[in-house]
Amino acid sequence: MIAAGVTYSNERQRMISQKFGGKHTERKLTAISDYLPAYTTALSGQNFNLHYIDAFAGTGLCTVSINGRETLIPGSASIAVNCMPSFDSLTFIEKIKNKCKALQRLADGSPSLNIKVLHGDANYFVVQSVNALKNWNDRAILFLDPFGMEVDWNTLKVAAESKKVDVWYLFSLSGLYRQAAIDPSSITKEKENAINRALGTNEWRQAFYSKPEPSRTNGDLFLNELIEECEKAPERRTHGAEDILAWVEKRFNTIFSYVHPPEILYQEGRNIPMFALFYMMANDSGKAIGLGKKIVASIFEKVRKKSELGTPPTRGL
Ligand SMILES: C[S@@+](CC[C@H](N)C(=O)[O-])C[C@H]1O[C@@H](n2cnc3c(N)ncnc32)[C@H](O)[C@@H]1O
Repeated sequence: MIAAGVTYSNERQRMISQKFGGKHTERKLTAISDYLPAYTTALSGQNFNLHYIDAFAGTGLCTVSINGRETLIPGSASIAVNCMPSFDSLTFIEKIKNKCKALQRLADGSPSLNIKVLHGDANYFVVQSVNALKNWNDRAILFLDPFGMEVDWNTLKVAAESKKVDVWYLFSLSGLYRQAAIDPSSITKEKENAINRALGTNEWRQAFYSKPEPSRTNGDLFLNELIEECEKAPERRTHGAEDILAWVEKRFNTIFSYVHPPEILYQEGRNIPMFALFYMMANDSGKAIGLGKKIVASIFEKVRKKSELGTPPTRGL
């Protein structure tokens, strides 16, 4: 499958497509491709300037491996370019120069659209792009689709405080479990800083880790010994996938007006939650939130129906 309106030779497709995902990539992109036209349709005819900001834009094409078969699918930038009704402006941010070249070719193929390709760091350019939304009628969709934990809390905060930007964020749960090791003594300063930057606080330390709880009672003396032993024992991460996800969702709720319960995306063929796809609204109008909720609930239902692994997250990861 090729992005509508974009034609490439086979060789060029191979060169510019990026190979990084499986079924979860397809699901994430299904959500985006259903949401963008629903958003521009709902807001068209209301005198809004509609902007799309793709902070980790890639190339516009990706090769995904589904059930062992490689399939070429349109990436988020192509989906946004082909969205009807169209956005008034599109901003693609990408840190790899060659990928920017592919994005520029995509932009050149749609001269009627106002497309900007920015080569550099997503956090820096998102803050700039959001701060540039100065008109009362500017509204934007920000898509945050990093590989890992590259999104800074400050970037989310700037988007949330704008009251104009609704955010799709593919949050890397696997990235967070990897950094927040079960044994906290193996969390390096670098890992700790990465988590602090992504969550905007060091409170996760207290929330995720604790000493073991005494679990048996066999007379007071035994209980005392047990308590003493537990106090001496080293701390461990006691939060599993489900609890970490709930904590992260609560954290996002501290800055956004609305956070939709996320869709969990699993590693293909395994019951391991890899990502949580969040939809978060900065807009605090009750009417806008009602509409956003309804659209996203039906999109997630569709994505879930397509999913072969709709089981809840595994505990204790
Ligand atoms: C998962 S891919 C995005 C795929 C894209 N949304 C799509 O649907 O085709 C993540 C992209 O972010 C880029 N990237 C990673 N870190 C970045 C950063 N700090 N700033 C901008 N781009 C970054 C990578 O080069 C990669 O192309």
